[in-house]
Amino acid sequence: MSTQPIGIFDSGIGGTSIFKEIKALLPHEHTLYLADSFNAPYGNKSKDEIIALSIKNTKLLISKDCKLIVVACNTATTNAIKELRDLFDIPFVGIEPAIKPAALSTQTKAIGILATKGTLSSELFHKSVDLYSENIKVIEQVGNGIVSLIEEGRTLSEDMKSLLQIYLKPMLEANIDYLVLGCTHYPYLMPLLLEILPEHVKIIDSGQAVARQTKAVLVQNQLLNEQTSTVKNEFYTNGTVAILKAILDAPYDVNYLKF
Ligand code: SIN
Repeated sequence: MSTQPIGIFDSGIGGTSIFKEIKALLPHEHTLYLADSFNAPYGNKSKDEIIALSIKNTKLLISKDCKLIVVACNTATTNAIKELRDLFDIPFVGIEPAIKPAALSTQTKAIGILATKGTLSSELFHKSVDLYSENIKVIEQVGNGIVSLIEEGRTLSEDMKSLLQIYLKPMLEANIDYLVLGCTHYPYLMPLLLEILPEHVKIIDSGQAVARQTKAVLVQNQLLNEQTSTVKNEFYTNGTVAILKAILDAPYDVNYLKF
């Protein structure tokens, strides 16, 4: 058992969608969230840049005594998790697009995946597609510009709606019945996605699976916090405090930190 915090990092505010799932499943755990909004988006950066940023975030979380690190960013997971696991002696939980459940459930034999360029071009992503997509059509789409709009606090703007209409059109033409959200920022698009997509298209993200995996890894390593005293959830951003606060939509302790 351990009262140390769970560390969570993302290229910005999107990983808060993962934080919320972790909190729902593990309400007694202390957490420490790093939003690297200054460097967002990671999705257009090179693999080496993504690895360097992920190492920087990990070092900071370890210096703040975290017991486990959740890489709440698909781009960082698919490009850097192996290197992080090789370099640091601390358990990591990563996040990958939920291709498997979509591929196993599709009736139309066509699924859509919206993710960053970094995720879609990664080796890990291609391995998953190869593993699960036999006999089904996978329509991949880079979500250029989406993360930047969310980081600017323009998540449900008209500009976002227009972008999504363009990105989803080829998927709808291919008759998808599952849309996989391959970026932790994207669950915040849900109101627009529900407006644009026909009712029969199901939307899948990996948030709950990551929360379950976080719990499993804590149990495995005997790191669960069994104390139920006051819980501390700290947030640090090198971007705009107000934008992170707005997306959290709860009175958490949010601080600016240069990192
Ligand atoms: C990005 O920073 O480009 C997106 C983060 C993600 O892939 O979850």
